[in-house]
Amino acid sequence: MADLTDPVVLADDSVISGLDYWRELPIKQQPEWPDTDAVGRASAQIASFPPLVFAGEVDILRERLARAASGEAFLLQGGDCAETFAGATADQIRNRVKTILQMAVVLTYGASMPVIKMGRMAGQFAKPRSSDTETRGDVTLPAYRGDIVNGYDFTPESRRADPSRLVQGYHTAASTLNLIRAFTQGGFADLRQVHSWNKGFASNPANHRYEQLAGQIDKAIRFMEAAGADFDELKRVEFYTAHEGLLMDYERPMTRIDSRTGTPYNTSAHFIWIGERTRDLDGAHVDFLSRVRNPIGVKLGPSTTPQAMQELIDKLDPNREPGRLTFITRMGAGTIRDALPPLLEAIKSADANPLWVTDPMHGNGITTPNGYKTRRFDDVVDEVKGFFESHRAVGTHPGGIHVELTGDDVTECLGGSERLDEASLATRYESLCDPRLNHKQSLELAFLVAEELGK
Ligand code: PEP
Ligand code: CO
Repeated sequence: MADLTDPVVLADDSVISGLDYWRELPIKQQPEWPDTDAVGRASAQIASFPPLVFAGEVDILRERLARAASGEAFLLQGGDCAETFAGATADQIRNRVKTILQMAVVLTYGASMPVIKMGRMAGQFAKPRSSDTETRGDVTLPAYRGDIVNGYDFTPESRRADPSRLVQGYHTAASTLNLIRAFTQGGFADLRQVHSWNKGFASNPANHRYEQLAGQIDKAIRFMEAAGADFDELKRVEFYTAHEGLLMDYERPMTRIDSRTGTPYNTSAHFIWIGERTRDLDGAHVDFLSRVRNPIGVKLGPSTTPQAMQELIDKLDPNREPGRLTFITRMGAGTIRDALPPLLEAIKSADANPLWVTDPMHGNGITTPNGYKTRRFDDVVDEVKGFFESHRAVGTHPGGIHVELTGDDVTECLGGSERLDEASLATRYESLCDPRLNHKQSLELAFLVAEELGK
């Protein structure tokens, strides 16, 4: 294994840690901080805070992902497009965790396979933007880059990048993660509670179907208990965190050298992914994340060539370590059946075994005539189906799903069994970034994926 902290010698003969080499490379999607001294102070403060996740947990996740890559487990990643500081409330966090747990139950039961549960949570605060600025009427201001950078309100003060938000990002991630750990370790996630996760959600066909499934699970557990089986395993669930590794003034100070192994771990989340806009092979993000031990995801859009994919494998997973690399494809429903198979074919002849995950959200964005950013549930479903079809045709493993969702009854994506239409989007549209599946749509999608997995 290469030494991930290898020093790098620069053109002027100075020597820096490999972990800082990204500073020499082209970098995209960073804010213009008006006060760079204050950014330095905030980063130094973050570097002094405790890690949010531990190296040992990250290593276990890598093993779990390796199983998914070889078709023996399935990854479920879900959460907000952009978490907000105001949205880090007990109710909202609980509803998201419950939704993911319910989806996981549906998938586990349908596929008879372990499901790795992972939230786009506790750090998903920084957003890449297609434009650096936003114009409303005749006013142009910096774009909103996520709560860890600036505010959403369209005023010059709010849109100014504020370094104190970096520190607030850390604290909000810490309290979110604390609640996640309490929910998933403290009895709430006990499989005997499978019914109670449905409580508080309005009655609808997906929840009704879930209730029936929960009844079957209850029965199976009671049978096994009566037969004397020991069920300690059912009391807790492993729940992992993930976010896009985008904002280097946060990711770098959260990266620490593990005392056991002497290697660097990004301790801000278990799993970090590189976005579609920042996956340049010679750019800062790919270089930096090539040097940390966490499992790394890379978003792949429809323009990805087999060669670009191969180069990413060589850079991010030179040792072909099981579980190290996940490709999250986001092709678009109309494109996936053409764009994905050539990549899967190329993988078969490469000596690599990445985990393949579908993100059926980011290739399917539309804007309605009344100005809402939305997605059609049918397109999401169609991309998921195209993902499974492509893998079945080529003979590779469809290993997971990555979705933007919330546990609340928002009206952000069109369709689903409630047949949400354009006029209803205004009823409860809360996302500050991309539209999310609401609780019911998420559950419906889980049933559909379970069917695909069972095929
Ligand atoms: C996201 O996951 O919110 C995102 C911006 O995705 P992508 O990089 O695939 O566009
Ligand atoms: Co998004």
